[in-house]
Amino acid sequence: MFEHKPRPEWIAAEEFLSTAVVHPDEAVQQAIHAAAEAGMPAIEVAPNAGKLLKLLVQLSGARRILEIGTLAGYSTIWMGRGLPRNGTLVTCEYLPQHAEVAWANIDAAGLGEKVEIRLGPALDTLAALEEEEREPFDFIFIDADKQNNSRYLDWAVRLGRPGAAVVLDNTIWEGAVLDPDIDPVNAPGIIEALKLLGAHPRLDATVIQTVGSKGWDGFALARILPQNNK
Ligand SMILES: C[S@@+](CC[C@H](N)C(=O)[O-])C[C@H]1O[C@@H](n2cnc3c(N)ncnc32)[C@H](O)[C@@H]1O
Repeated sequence: MFEHKPRPEWIAAEEFLSTAVVHPDEAVQQAIHAAAEAGMPAIEVAPNAGKLLKLLVQLSGARRILEIGTLAGYSTIWMGRGLPRNGTLVTCEYLPQHAEVAWANIDAAGLGEKVEIRLGPALDTLAALEEEEREPFDFIFIDADKQNNSRYLDWAVRLGRPGAAVVLDNTIWEGAVLDPDIDPVNAPGIIEALKLLGAHPRLDATVIQTVGSKGWDGFALARILPQNNK
């Protein structure tokens, strides 16, 4: 399995920032403990990235969030914290055990009425959401199987409103974007999606590199453009 390689000083700096600036609340910290107790992989976003998601939700005024990749609900809770009173969040997860742990964490965080976990392969869920003719999403966070990143970006454009924000996680992957042999399973999907981000007529995007407890990685931030591209 592919391993991230965080340097000790990156982890120490992240811990300092987390304590000095980010201030994760008890519920998000408990979500991490519950995931570890359940034997789930520690592949949630870092605390500073979770807080960034919350702030982006608030700064963009998002009311309807779509998340692809729930795990134990860590990023879900961070984003849910940024929602207004009438806000909603749909999160997609295909493993029942992950969904079960996530639901307990989300409910304990007081977000049970705002969050809906949709169990099943995300591509099926996204097609079902389109069938349901819901109001378009304002904010979309993509963090699931990297092989499908390009398909998730296409779905984000279909299900998001013009002006909506799209965040795509894991864009450097320890340098696998430069050397796909580092991770032949995930790198091709990550690279394909980055190329799509740069070329998609309905997306205007940038990518930020990061280091920390999750190693050398990054995330993309995009805005969905209107049909006429203005
Ligand atoms: C990286 S983790 C998500 C982490 C979460 N966003 C966080 O930061 O707390 C990816 C999750 O996506 C789920 N997943 C992977 N492929 C999926 C698919 N095709 N459909 C739905 N969920 C999927 C995995 O089971 C896992 O729980």
